[in-house]
Amino acid sequence: MDLKQYVTTVEDWPKPGISFKDITTIMDNGEAYKYATDQIVEYAKEVQADIIVGPEARGFIIGCPVAYALGVGFAPVRKEGKLPREVIRAEYGLEYGKDVLTMHKDAVKPGQKVLIVDDLLATGGTIEATIKLVEELGGIVVGCAFLIELTYLEGRNKLDKYDICTLMQY
Ligand code: PRP
Repeated sequence: MDLKQYVTTVEDWPKPGISFKDITTIMDNGEAYKYATDQIVEYAKEVQADIIVGPEARGFIIGCPVAYALGVGFAPVRKEGKLPREVIRAEYGLEYGKDVLTMHKDAVKPGQKVLIVDDLLATGGTIEATIKLVEELGGIVVGCAFLIELTYLEGRNKLDKYDICTLMQY
């Protein structure tokens, strides 16, 4: 399946000059959503992940069905102030802005093999912060999987120590 035909490019959103890749047109198509999920499930099996971690909000949309298909857990990474118990935090820079990501202190157990999943690899800031959180908890990042990689932003350069899987490149 050519997944790219289900991605909608929205010019000048959320700011002028940004060419936004909208994946809701993958999700609202049952076959495309299943196909994309299945590709990441296969990758998760290869790297033998025993838990999936995903940053809000679109990392949940991709990561949760992968966790369900594998029968493993899913641990959410959320923006500050959203998780109810004790958290660890990491600052990060976005393609457009700055923010803080948090994770519950007990979300990943030391030695667990973690696959990090998100919809998009842009500058890599989000995933870099997510890796930092997982490693601070003692998790082993066995891979990072994305639907889309914006290769011109070179986010992959921040991740050269890690195994990366991207289904589409722009
Ligand atoms: C988007 C996207 C990735 C991140 C990629 O999320 O879903 O998580 O940006 O950018 P980066 O590689 O430059 O860090 P966003 O922060 O917009 O949050 P949302 O999914 O909650 O809208």
